[in-house]
Amino acid sequence: MLKVDAINVYYGKIHALKDVSFEVQEGEVVALIGANGAGKSTTLKTISGMLHAKTGSITFLGESISHTESYRLVAKGLAHVPEGRRIFLQMTVMENLEMGAYIHKKATKEELDEIFDRFPRLKERQNQIAGTLSGGEQQMLAMGRALISHPKLLMLDEPSMGLAPILVEQIFDIIRELHAAGTTILLVEQNAEMALQLANRAYVLETGSIVLSGTGKELAQSDAIKRAYLGG
Ligand SMILES: Nc1ncnc2c1ncn2[C@@H]1O[C@H](COP(=O)(O)OP(=O)(O)OP(=O)(O)O)[C@@H](O)[C@H]1O
Ligand SMILES: [Mg+2]
Repeated sequence: MLKVDAINVYYGKIHALKDVSFEVQEGEVVALIGANGAGKSTTLKTISGMLHAKTGSITFLGESISHTESYRLVAKGLAHVPEGRRIFLQMTVMENLEMGAYIHKKATKEELDEIFDRFPRLKERQNQIAGTLSGGEQQMLAMGRALISHPKLLMLDEPSMGLAPILVEQIFDIIRELHAAGTTILLVEQNAEMALQLANRAYVLETGSIVLSGTGKELAQSDAIKRAYLGG
């Protein structure tokens, strides 16, 4: 479904991604793990067209998307929930969800009901100003907004960041359900333990390079991973 082939991305002189290559097959959950500053968010931003690679190529559903604008990618079925959620804090829950659908049209009642079924909390709070939602509720809103467009590939950048353990569990349950319902997922996570449990396959980024890959299970058992990311 997605093939990233030897991309090099720079911020001015900073070489943020060095020959990064990886793939996501249809129906998989693929995790991208790595320390702060490793290049995880840069990778997702480059895939979703917010940044452009200097060299290398990105293919989505058999088509080159290296030079495709973000809004076109959403229409092709690629959704990105960025780090820090980026919801519209001054708008209500409902207005945020309606914005998520605007790429193809205003959200239909069916589309909104589908999101409210998955996130009952958002239904209760549909008229609340998003900035006053709790962190977990804001994350649900960000995910709900991305799901309105029925993405084929959902890219999540640290969905558990800053959440209490109970909410982290909830967010991971939702990711599991989305996967079971057929959504392909590329997951960036600090919580390597939970990400590896969930992922079919995973890649480890270190200072802009992929240094390890394998099944979630293999990586969870690797000594190098245990030392670096799983606390022992
Ligand atoms: N706009 C920018 N300008 C200059 N350097 C940047 C910019 N954004 C990111 N970088 C640098 O690129 C590198 C990769 O950053 P990135 O945000 O991709 O890391 P990350 O793996 O997502 O880290 P974290 O886990 O902290 O979110 C870092 O060294 C960072 O300082
Ligand atoms: Mg990041």
